Amino acid sequence: MSRTHEHLPGLTLEHLPLGTGATPVRRLDFGLVGGAEVWVKDESAYGDGGWGGNKVRKLEWIIPEARRRGTRALFTVGGIGTHWGLVAALYGREHGLRTVLGLVEQPVDQHVREQFARLEASGAELHRYRDQRQLRLAVPLIYATATVRDRRLPWFLPAGGSNAFGALAYVETSYEIADQVAAGELPEPATVVTAVGSGGTAAGLALGLRLAGLPTRVLGVVVNDAFPLDAPVIAGLANQCADLLRSRSAELDVAPVRPDDVTMRSDWLGATYGDPTPASTAAVSAAAEEGFELEPVYTGKSLAAIRDLAARGELAEPVLWLNTHGPR
Ligand SMILES: Cc1ncc(COP(=O)(O)O)c(C=O)c1O
Repeated sequence: MSRTHEHLPGLTLEHLPLGTGATPVRRLDFGLVGGAEVWVKDESAYGDGGWGGNKVRKLEWIIPEARRRGTRALFTVGGIGTHWGLVAALYGREHGLRTVLGLVEQPVDQHVREQFARLEASGAELHRYRDQRQLRLAVPLIYATATVRDRRLPWFLPAGGSNAFGALAYVETSYEIADQVAAGELPEPATVVTAVGSGGTAAGLALGLRLAGLPTRVLGVVVNDAFPLDAPVIAGLANQCADLLRSRSAELDVAPVRPDDVTMRSDWLGATYGDPTPASTAAVSAAAEEGFELEPVYTGKSLAAIRDLAARGELAEPVLWLNTHGPR
């Protein structure tokens, strides 16, 4: 039984465990974060098979729902280095679902090249476009082709799996965090920091921390400029997730999440999604010296934000930083 089910008795959503929690928490080295009190929750090893990252947790809610709907194919979108698309393809295949991916170009470095090679080997059906506009134009044809082949509509999942089902991943994680606080494994965080690529993680946290009774504020480090990821968008998704829980028989005793309840900042984005900024590259190198691996697109930028804010004395501490790196 998931923690969410334990806390919301009567919930009729199914959860498929794909990894083993609770993911570990530990305090980060002083030097790495300018002496601030920063704890890390290491999501990078979540997921049986060692894939890790925050996307596996989203599929724990999406795959059972796909089965309930009689879906044969997941249709989703992302950049050519999409972590989400790869994890959806691999775990979907394991659970009898095909994955169709609409991909758009992004700045290419070694990491992106490797990711794309993994996508090609994953068994997913790939459709590659120059930009968002071209992809949008092609969507009806991709959708129709998959429908004719499967004699069933594919389930369209937004980029990053960030619909209300995907956001449940970080409702579940919020309950996990609350249990770790109660067990004395970490202090009650004043702030939780996460990279924001499509919003599901931040939205799930915004709702989940509230449901779990923690006063922690979500600070989202926005790393994607392909679509709006501001506070109203994140609060809106958090409330859609609450509506989903209510529609599946959960009794929630919390007020709606308001845009003022979350902080979304794009200061570390750089020129565009995937741009490896000097600050993110420096954060990746500093983390490597401490013995953990990050990448410059998401986790490098979220750690860079913490380092900068700590240097300016602008962090509400203690901080809990989600290391969402994965898959590998
Ligand atoms: C490594 C990593 N961290 C963080 C994120 C952000 O999560 P979300 O898409 O839920 O905003 C993503 C995906 O976008 C990711 O791949």
